[in-house]
Amino acid sequence: MSKGSFYLTTPIYYVNSVPHLGTAYTTIAADALARYRRMAGYDVFFLTGLDEHGQKVAQAAEENGTTPQEWVDSVAPKFLEAWEMLDISNDDFIRTTEERHKRGVQAFWTKLHDAGYLYKGGYDGWYCVPDETYWSEDQLVDGKCPECGRDVEFLSEENWFFKLSEFAQPLLDFYAAREAEGRPFIQPHTRRNEVVSFVEGGLRDLSISRTSFTWGVALPFAENHVTYVWIDALLNYITAVGYGAEDPESAALFERHWPANVHFVGKDIIRFHCVIWPAMLMAAGVELPETVFAHGFLLTKGEKMSKSKGNAVTPASLVERFGVDAYRYYFMRDVQFGHDGSVSMESMVQRYNGDLANDWGNLCSRLFNMVGKYFEGVVPEPPDAEVTDADSTLRSIADALPEKYEDAMSRLEYVAALEAAWDLIKEANRYIENEAPWNLAKTEETLPRLRTVIYNVLEAVRIAALFTAPVMPETSAEVWRRLALGDIRDVTDICAQAAWGGLPSGNAVTKGDPLFPRIYEEE
Ligand code: MSP
Repeated sequence: MSKGSFYLTTPIYYVNSVPHLGTAYTTIAADALARYRRMAGYDVFFLTGLDEHGQKVAQAAEENGTTPQEWVDSVAPKFLEAWEMLDISNDDFIRTTEERHKRGVQAFWTKLHDAGYLYKGGYDGWYCVPDETYWSEDQLVDGKCPECGRDVEFLSEENWFFKLSEFAQPLLDFYAAREAEGRPFIQPHTRRNEVVSFVEGGLRDLSISRTSFTWGVALPFAENHVTYVWIDALLNYITAVGYGAEDPESAALFERHWPANVHFVGKDIIRFHCVIWPAMLMAAGVELPETVFAHGFLLTKGEKMSKSKGNAVTPASLVERFGVDAYRYYFMRDVQFGHDGSVSMESMVQRYNGDLANDWGNLCSRLFNMVGKYFEGVVPEPPDAEVTDADSTLRSIADALPEKYEDAMSRLEYVAALEAAWDLIKEANRYIENEAPWNLAKTEETLPRLRTVIYNVLEAVRIAALFTAPVMPETSAEVWRRLALGDIRDVTDICAQAAWGGLPSGNAVTKGDPLFPRIYEEE
């Protein structure tokens, strides 16, 4: 029985750059939540995609002597390949040059035009092409873009405007109402004040069209106007689930999944998502999303993250060295989601060797070897011997895990969620050390206790694999395969699966190669 829809999105990425550590970070975080929600029985729809219009793309295409469409078509496969390499389980991949999107954008702006939210006016001001953002004279810092410090260009055009200024109070009321209901729209909380004080300062109407170039979605009611790239891009979140399409399947999809549960964004694009986006939806009478979660930036000390020869560190180079699961684990475990965090090759090697090779990989290797050695590779009967304090401790940590994990994941605290899983992994290691199965195997009288100890650790490992699966899907699938259990990716009732005692005795256990072979720091 499905627990209902869970719709989550990443920003749609600009095609001026190939996937890098930053864009991979947002996408992996969203993927871990998507996987967990599927395992918890939700009807998940996970969307990512590409933002393919705008002046920046038009310019890049021209510089490369190609058309914008050819240019975006040449970049799109790089994103698809990267997400496949990183085991991203998105259900859809939207490109803003697709017909379904353009149709939805046109339907949306026609609706706002008809409803009287748009007007024609002259725009005189500054534009930052790399950020695709408008600025007024007084917002510039030393004549440069206040966001990125790059040059801006002067624009003097006839534009269509959206009456954004009318939405300042409705937005403030909306943020407050959601807070009062205990379901804050802007998360984490620290970001809320920033947005609220910005809106309290008053909002200017937003220019929504451009006439100086053509690479965008044409505004149906205004000849020679294409939509401003940001308000084209934001609409992907509804066009991907069928907004603006006439057919009944699209309408059903929209009904099924909208409103979105979480829009994952970096803190750099919070105003677009927490101010402009909800105002657009209010104007169109479309329900507002549940949450926008803004995470921090990954900071790298260039030389340290880069390997020999000064090559920039790419997702592919890290996956090659550490494997995909370790890559995903490192970024989710080492940086508090919502805060900025430094990443380095050094700390990645440390995490890998400590948490993955020693704690998790070693636990599995030792255990599966002992099952081979003492029980001919077969899961022994569940315990019939007396339960000791050590047994109860191990079991109580396993029993507490589903709730702790859910609590952390519902707040997108990946570090806390992984720590909860690690509590069980560490306790299982301690339990093996203290119970010393190798001694229990020495005498006939202690064989029942040996059975109990091994069964309990197998159970802990089976359950730990469930809760590490959202972040490390391949490893968990492998652990379950070695325990002769079903495909862990098919689990849709994680809590029921986590009930202690679920491992059938008699299953054939495979030893296999080390899950995370130790690696050594490069010279
Ligand atoms: N196309 C817009 C988004 C439109 S959404 C309707 C855009 N694209 S982008 O390619 O620049 O991607 C920005 C996003 O990439 C950030 O919001 C963030 O999610 C991610 N990151 C880019 N660099 C990053 C870091 N250094 N660290 C963490 N995430 C960063 O903006």
